[in-house]
Amino acid sequence: MKYNIQLRFNTSKDWAKYIVGHFDGFLQDHADCERKASSMAMSFVAKCPDKHDIIPDLIETALEELVHFKQVYEIMIARGVVLKQVIEQDQYIKQLINLCRSGKEDRLLDRMIVASVVEARGAERFRLVAEELENPELKEFYETLWKSEYKHSDIFLRLAERYYSENAINERLDWFLSQEAAICSKLPNRAALH
Ligand SMILES: [Fe+2]
Ligand SMILES: [Fe+2]
Repeated sequence: MKYNIQLRFNTSKDWAKYIVGHFDGFLQDHADCERKASSMAMSFVAKCPDKHDIIPDLIETALEELVHFKQVYEIMIARGVVLKQVIEQDQYIKQLINLCRSGKEDRLLDRMIVASVVEARGAERFRLVAEELENPELKEFYETLWKSEYKHSDIFLRLAERYYSENAINERLDWFLSQEAAICSKLPNRAALH
């Protein structure tokens, strides 16, 4: 089965310009996003300890996200930027999680699809940031990041397909892509990934 996530809302170049203009604040949020992404991958390990063939990919993803966190944190240190002292709720993530169905199996599928869509959105936005940045090292860093996040997007769907039917995945993916586009189109510009 081949998945090709096509996001249904295109983030504008103006968003990327705003981010580059508020870059230190963006880094603070970005670091938190990477830390949360690592935790999210490990939370799937806790949710499905019986699904042995999922676990190595999840651990690998969690490690990659933690490396991203470390890399962002190092950039912050070099710029004299500290981690956020108060972490606000990410309204984008909160709205997507609220759309996930209850019931163990339905919820697990929805959470995997949300994870995949969130990774695809991260990839899209890091790519825009990479294009907008002028500093060559930062530009290169965000280029490597968007490729990595795009790959993660695929991993969560490939994991889902081992346990759910193609129809079940495609139906929920289609629905979540529309919902995500509507949520994303209403997000205010702030120094944050979402
Ligand atoms: Fe990441
Ligand atoms: Fe990722």
